[in-house]
Amino acid sequence: MEHATQVALTKRVIDFVDRNTTELADAVYLNPVSTYTSPEQAERERELLFRGHPLFFALSCELPKPGDYRADDLSGVPILVVRGNDGRLNAFLNVCRHRGAKVATGRGSGKRLFVCPYHAFTYDLDGRLTKLPAEGFPGLTCDDRSLVKIPVAERHGLIWVQATPGADLDVDALLGGLGPEMASYNLASYSHYKTQMLTKDMNWKLVIDTFLETWHVATLHRETVGPIFQPNVNVFDAFGRNGRLIIPRRTMMELKSQPESGWDFLEHSAIVYTLFPNALLVWQGDHFETWRSFPVGDATAKCVAEAALFTPKPAVTDKEKRHWDRNFDLLMRTVDAEDFPVCLDIQRGFGAGAQPHITFGRNEPALGHYHRSLREALGRDADGSTEAFDWGT
Ligand code: FES
Ligand SMILES: [Fe+2]
Repeated sequence: MEHATQVALTKRVIDFVDRNTTELADAVYLNPVSTYTSPEQAERERELLFRGHPLFFALSCELPKPGDYRADDLSGVPILVVRGNDGRLNAFLNVCRHRGAKVATGRGSGKRLFVCPYHAFTYDLDGRLTKLPAEGFPGLTCDDRSLVKIPVAERHGLIWVQATPGADLDVDALLGGLGPEMASYNLASYSHYKTQMLTKDMNWKLVIDTFLETWHVATLHRETVGPIFQPNVNVFDAFGRNGRLIIPRRTMMELKSQPESGWDFLEHSAIVYTLFPNALLVWQGDHFETWRSFPVGDATAKCVAEAALFTPKPAVTDKEKRHWDRNFDLLMRTVDAEDFPVCLDIQRGFGAGAQPHITFGRNEPALGHYHRSLREALGRDADGSTEAFDWGT
């Protein structure tokens, strides 16, 4: 992050603390409960977001070398991403062109070929079928049965995939101006440390929501991360449909007595970047986390969340590993053991019929921006006009 930006953000934080206030949205935002419970909405999300929108897939450092691959079904569409021999990423529908089995599972490295486990159709890293028994498939050639490519883009150490063959994946449009800031982190130089999957009986958006305000930190997280962060101060900026939410550490206030030229804002903050529509990139003072959230099947109240931790250098020694394990444990104690039980209660509460909306206060601007962006992305029909959609209001 540019130093001028760091100074400007630090000043905004200090000003809010001095005036005992925080970032405020223009108005209260009423979010329909049906956003989290409506099967029609879930269906549109699957179609327009999880199939029809680029999704953050991974950091580049998860697939650094030719032959590194990762298969992933979380969006509902089986996807395979592999780094080719030319160093560029290829993405495919992970569907064998014989009878449709998956040609790869999980993640790994050093692949030269993908061999289908069913009848051994074999594909190279560009998805080309390498041979086809002529007597069994007369009239067909290998070229007729390549894996189906889907758009993949890699920029600033981030990877996006869209499960729509032939779609145009425009990263600059997607990032909405966040590009230079992403580039400044040199994410490609990080190392993947650990990934954990969490399956929960709640709508996938509650995973994102719980990161999008800081108000609850002093109460819900008073035993875990509460002592670290300045209570109820957040600084929010929108970048297209994405967002940047600053959660200042209490130590940031020490900068007041230091010369501006030496201010290191990043050391004193957590930053939650929303990568629209279903992912977060979280700066944690000295490392990054990513979160991705997906609905499971056609359920409105079941999701799988993927949390991953990335370190600035590879963790080699036991001491380094213990350090990052402690970080990951704190993350799980905070999010899995404190945030998610409340989210599960919220999901159950939706069914009680207590209210048609939940309310995002003016002091929760990131939530309003996120849900307004979702609504905009879902309210658009194929020809781009705004369509009438029953939001349950
Ligand atoms: S389904 Fe893949 S080889 Fe038959
Ligand atoms: Fe939380």
